[in-house]
Amino acid sequence: MKDFRALLAGKNLSFFIRTYGCQMNERDSEKMAGLLEQIGFVAAKSKDVADIVIYNTCCVRESAEDKVFGHLSREKSAKAQRPFILAIGGCMPQQPEMADLLREKHKYADIVFGTGNRHRLPEFLWRVIENGERNIVDITEGENELPEITDVPVTTREFSHKAGVNIMYGCDNFCSYCIVPYVRGREKSRAAEDVLAEIRALADDGVREIMLLGQNVNSYRGKICESVRVVSLPAPTLQNDSLASFPELLHLAHEVEGIKRIRFMTSHPKDFSDELIDAMQKLPNVCKHVHLPLQAGSTRVLADMNRFYTKEQYLALAEKLYAAMPEIAITTDIIVGYPGETDEDFEDTLDVVRRVRFAGAFTFIYSKRSGTPAATRTDLIPRKTANERFDRLTAELYPIMTARNESKIGQIIDVMVEEVRDDASNAYKARGDDHTLVHFTAETGEFVAGDIVPVRIDVAKTFYVSGCAASDFLRKSCN
Ligand code: SAH
Ligand code: SF4
Ligand code: F3S
Repeated sequence: MKDFRALLAGKNLSFFIRTYGCQMNERDSEKMAGLLEQIGFVAAKSKDVADIVIYNTCCVRESAEDKVFGHLSREKSAKAQRPFILAIGGCMPQQPEMADLLREKHKYADIVFGTGNRHRLPEFLWRVIENGERNIVDITEGENELPEITDVPVTTREFSHKAGVNIMYGCDNFCSYCIVPYVRGREKSRAAEDVLAEIRALADDGVREIMLLGQNVNSYRGKICESVRVVSLPAPTLQNDSLASFPELLHLAHEVEGIKRIRFMTSHPKDFSDELIDAMQKLPNVCKHVHLPLQAGSTRVLADMNRFYTKEQYLALAEKLYAAMPEIAITTDIIVGYPGETDEDFEDTLDVVRRVRFAGAFTFIYSKRSGTPAATRTDLIPRKTANERFDRLTAELYPIMTARNESKIGQIIDVMVEEVRDDASNAYKARGDDHTLVHFTAETGEFVAGDIVPVRIDVAKTFYVSGCAASDFLRKSCN
C-alpha cells in the first residue's frame, strides 16, 4: 500500500465523489467536497487519478444498490493496479445488514460511513492516512443528530447559478415500501434563520436559483425568532409562536435579494395546504412547478402504502392547483407492481395520469426493501405483469407530455440558462419557470448560466422544447 503520509508531505491529496440518489445526496456530496477542500484536499479531474474515491450511495431501490455494487467490483480491481483510498458512504451502509456485508465481504473498502456521520469523513481519512487503519466501518445508529455540516465554503457547488438548500432532514411518513425513514432518521427542520443565512450566502456568491430540499417540505416547522417573522401573513400561516411553516419560509426566502427563482422538492400531497397554494400564487419568484408524488391511483393501494390520501383527494388537490395557477406544471412519482396491485388498481393509476395530465413523471417498478412493512408481503406481482404495466404507464404518460410541450409552440417564455452547450453555434440549455427543459440558440447576445432569456418555442418533443432567443426572432434572424 502506498504511503499516504509521504504523499501528503509532497502534494495535496485529490478526491473524487460519485453520487447516487436524490438531491439530498447531491447536496451532501457538495458539503463533503467543501469540507475536504477546507482541509487542503483538491478535487480530482477524474476518478481514475484521484487519491481518494468516495461513493455517496442510495438504497431506495434494489437497482440503485446494484449500480453501486457493479462499480465497487471494478474499484476492487482498480485498487490492485493503483493505490487509492476507497470510501463508501450515504444511505446504503446505513442499513445494518448492508454495513455488515460491506465489513465482511468488501474489506478492500477503507472507510464505510453513513448519513449521520458524514461530517466525520476528514477524521476517518486521517485515520487511514496517518495511522494506516483499514476497513473502518462507522455508522451512527438511531436517530440522526441533525447532521449539519456548517461553515462549508459555498463555492463548492456543482453549478454556479443554482443550489439546493436543505430545509429539513429525515422523514416521519413511513410509507410502507420506503427505506428512507430508516436510513435518514426522523424528520427534523432546520431553524429558519439558518436556512435564510445559507440562501443569502448563496445569493452573494452568484446563485440565482435555489431548490428548498426535504423529503416532505410541506411539513416544515423550523424555529424562528419574532424579529424575522412575516407579519403581513394571515393567521393560519403563522401557526405557532416559535415555529415557521413552509409557506412562511417561502415568503422569507422570497425577500432574499439576488434569488430570481425558488423551487422546492418534495411535496407530500397529504400536507399541501391552501396557505402554500396562496404563497405560490402571490410570490412571483416561486416557480410554478410542483413535484407531487402520486405513487398509485387506487385508494385501496394508497391506504396500503400508508400515504394518507385518496384518489379523489389527490385529484381535488391537482384541480385546486390548476384553478389557482393555470400555467402550473405538476410532475410526479409513480410505482407500479406494488404487492397486491390488481388490474383494476392499475387502471386507477392510468385514470389519474389522464386526468391530471402530468408534465413529467419518474416511474418505478416496486422494489422490495428489507426492513420495510411491505417487505413482508407475499402477494407479489409477477415481474412480467409489472413490466407490462410499466410500459402501459409510459405509453399513457408520454403523449400527454408531448402534447403539453406542443401547446408551447409559438409562445415566448422566460428561461434560465443552465449551461452553454456549444460556444460556436451559440446553443444553450435552459429551464422554463415550470421546469420545462428548453434548448435554444441565440445569434445576438451571449449568455451565462443564471441569465434569464425570453425564448420563442418552435419545436416540441416529449422531454424538451427548443427555440431561439426572442431577440433573434425580433431581428428576424430566426427561421
Ligand atoms: N420523499 C419523496 C420521495 C423520496 S423517494 C416522497 O415521498 O414523495 C423517491 C421515489 O422513489 C418515491 O416517490 C417513490 O416513487 C420511489 N420509491 C421509494 N421506495 C420505492 C420502492 N421500494 N420501490 C420502488 N420505488 C420506490
Ligand atoms: Fe419515503 Fe414516504 Fe418519506 Fe417519501 S414520504 S421519503 S416515499 S417514507
Ligand atoms: Fe436514495 Fe437516500 Fe435519497 S436512499 S433517494 S439517496 S435519501
